Amino acid sequence: MSTESLDDLFETGLKEMCYTEKQLLDALSDLESEVSDEKAQSAFREHRQETEGHVERLEEVFDKVGVSPEEKQLHAIDGLVEDHDEFVQNDPEQEALEAFDLTAAQKSEHLEIAAYGNLAHLADQLGHDEAGDLLHQNLEEEEEALDELVEATEQMDVSSTAD
Ligand SMILES: [Fe+2]
Ligand SMILES: [Fe+2]
Repeated sequence: MSTESLDDLFETGLKEMCYTEKQLLDALSDLESEVSDEKAQSAFREHRQETEGHVERLEEVFDKVGVSPEEKQLHAIDGLVEDHDEFVQNDPEQEALEAFDLTAAQKSEHLEIAAYGNLAHLADQLGHDEAGDLLHQNLEEEEEALDELVEATEQMDVSSTAD
């Protein structure tokens, strides 16, 4: 049995987030094209642009800590993408699709928030101060994105109950 150190955990986590962010670049494009609600569209579009920045910051983190920038599959994000694809195949009503997409995006933000929160903490523990700052920056943008998505969802609720 191999022994996993905190360094290994940190490196694996970085690689999983590299994989996750790249999956999300595709997923956020799909979500943007599926919804007609403007607030949801702009939340997906703006966060996709931020996601490109997350990949760049991760590459900087790899550089700072001297780890080769590789990807490692994260089944959790694949599961969210598969659930989405299955839902779309069932030909949902537009309103249901928009609600599903906003929920799916919120789930992915919660995943990223948990991952970056823990990676930033590990970076601090391992003395990787600059890497920790970069991970905190990604974390903050994920938290802001989650707030935007929740707001978009709540506004959709208001318009549907006003009918
Ligand atoms: Fe991200
Ligand atoms: Fe995100």
